[in-house]
Amino acid sequence: MKIRVEENYRQMSCEAARIIAGEILRNPNLVLGLPTGNTPKCMYEKLANLCKEGVVDFSQVVTFNLDEYYDLPFDHEKSFHRYMEEKFFSRVNILPQNTYIPNGMTDSVERECKNYDRKISEQGGIDLIVLGIGPNGHIGFNEPGTRWDSATRLVELTEKTITREFDRSQNHPRKALTMGIKNIMRARKVLLLASGEKKAEIVDRTINGPISNDVPSTILQLHPDLRMILDEGAAGKARG
Ligand code: GLP
Repeated sequence: MKIRVEENYRQMSCEAARIIAGEILRNPNLVLGLPTGNTPKCMYEKLANLCKEGVVDFSQVVTFNLDEYYDLPFDHEKSFHRYMEEKFFSRVNILPQNTYIPNGMTDSVERECKNYDRKISEQGGIDLIVLGIGPNGHIGFNEPGTRWDSATRLVELTEKTITREFDRSQNHPRKALTMGIKNIMRARKVLLLASGEKKAEIVDRTINGPISNDVPSTILQLHPDLRMILDEGAAGKARG
């Protein structure tokens, strides 16, 4: 595990974009796993700038998003389809047919999940997966209690996660489709980003805590090529 601490969120994002761009320069056909959430927003912006400047070319890159809400229309403001389109895909030269996101509007969850895992295999697996982390240690939407051998599937979101993401007075999803821990651990490289003091405790548990399904991110301790990029706030409680 390599841990790098940057002074602030912006620098954490620059470093993440730099690593991804470097991987694409080395392998233009890179298969990239991608997260949503607040954490990677600036990273996407930096990558879009690098693309605009001609530093990095996404025309042969393939992406697989980690997750998507179940039964939430793609044009909903919280949809990860919409997030990816607005924050990243529309701003780089990636081909739409090379971008995959679980289809939460599917009429057959089982078929959708199987197809998703099959498509990942057909692309030769994920070369580099970028992760954020939930305050309870969820990665993707693999909430506490997730089995280590889980693949893409439909999951129930915890109350905490729902409250964090949605205004409870409105209609909101209770489920999501997510890649499983097995998909994440099979990626050849993992890059985890965390920013801000509110992530400090979970970052410490992820690095130093016992490996336990109660904190899904702890399994990453066993990944042979894990890099964490933290800002000072998120690194504040990590021992050692
Ligand atoms: C989510 C996503 C995760 C994300 C995490 C952290 O809801 N499913 O992929 O990494 O929560 O989100 P944030 O970056 O907003 O703190």
